Amino acid sequence: PVQPTREDKFSFGLWTVGWQARDPFGDATRAPLDPIEAVHKLSEIGAYGITFHDDDLVPFGADAHTRDGVIANFKKALDETGMIVPMVTTNLFTHPVFKDGGFTSNDRSVRRYALRKVMRQMDLGAELGAKTLVLWGGREGAEYDVAKDIRAALDRYAEGLNLIAQYSEDRGYGLRFAIEPKPNEPRGDILLPTAGHAIAFVNDLERPELFGINPEVGHEQMSNLNFAQGIAQALWHKKLFHIDLNGQHGPKFDQDLVFGHGDLLNAFALVDLLEFGGPQGAPAYDGPRHFDYKPSRTEDYEGVWESARANIRMYLLLKERAAAFRADPAVQEALAASGVAELNTPTLNAGETYQDLLNDRSAFEDFDPDAAGERGYGFVKLHQLAIDHVLKAD
Ligand code: GCO
Ligand code: MN
Ligand code: MN
Ligand code: MN
Repeated sequence: PVQPTREDKFSFGLWTVGWQARDPFGDATRAPLDPIEAVHKLSEIGAYGITFHDDDLVPFGADAHTRDGVIANFKKALDETGMIVPMVTTNLFTHPVFKDGGFTSNDRSVRRYALRKVMRQMDLGAELGAKTLVLWGGREGAEYDVAKDIRAALDRYAEGLNLIAQYSEDRGYGLRFAIEPKPNEPRGDILLPTAGHAIAFVNDLERPELFGINPEVGHEQMSNLNFAQGIAQALWHKKLFHIDLNGQHGPKFDQDLVFGHGDLLNAFALVDLLEFGGPQGAPAYDGPRHFDYKPSRTEDYEGVWESARANIRMYLLLKERAAAFRADPAVQEALAASGVAELNTPTLNAGETYQDLLNDRSAFEDFDPDAAGERGYGFVKLHQLAIDHVLKAD
């Protein structure tokens, strides 16, 4: 049951399996990974797609000849495997030039350079058939409140995003743009720190329909937020353009664990929502199931692929468990007893006005709040049934 197919739409960032495990305290523990090998290996383990930052594929500063060669070889590997590039993204964080940000650096020349770097990656993404450009603004932020004019920074962020959207439309790229929120790390405080901030922001852009978000499990959990609930809200706004799946244990540094290796029960709720949360139990999201994790620093080359496979395995296991949960008559009974579906019934009748509501004595004058307050909702029983299914308990 846990054999992946291309239809599952699993994708990985080249920077994930390619991470050499350099951290702020220690050197790399693994050798560099050849992008061509990454394409083949990811295809073997059942992924349908690979994503990358410009500099993951073509080393920063490479000359045009080198760049063309790397891209040609990469395309060949894609052709050989049938792997696709559903999304691309731009590195606006590694080089020292971006230490105060890309689109929102206080230095105007850096902002102009950042825009050019993103536009160049959009050209390549379009050439490779990418549908989505992710924008993770890890350096767009500050450590010192007085050093960054946040409203000016948001003006410049919007200016940059409006410009690249215009570029995509004029060139016929048809890209959709997904902002990836994160509260902190590497900056002390990052702009657009949560899904909610980012959704509010994109609605004030010139072409809001082209902009959505790319929420990451661990990033929302770093803010102590409920990821599955945040995804439900993003879906409600029709802003879930892409998703970064991984694992995290609450508010601490960005762990980037394997999907489901952090808050397992929330991961269950998430998969249940993505796979069965649409009308009549259809999927609620049809984009890539993208893993943005880091193979732990303790792992060797074999461990990298073991952990990559673990992401897929976790997702498919949770999908299987969620299907069993949904199909269980005891669960359906518990859902009904808890009134879960009743929330879909509008609070007013069709055509009912507030005057009708005021005239309805049963809603207030004759309503017995004490009696209604005695109702038990049975949520704990329902939740235990979910855990029983996760654990495959009898
Ligand atoms: C992180 C981020 C990044 C982005 C990537 C794509 O915390 O490091 O999640 O991995 O997802 O830069 O834009
Ligand atoms: Mn990370
Ligand atoms: Mn992360
Ligand atoms: Mn991410």
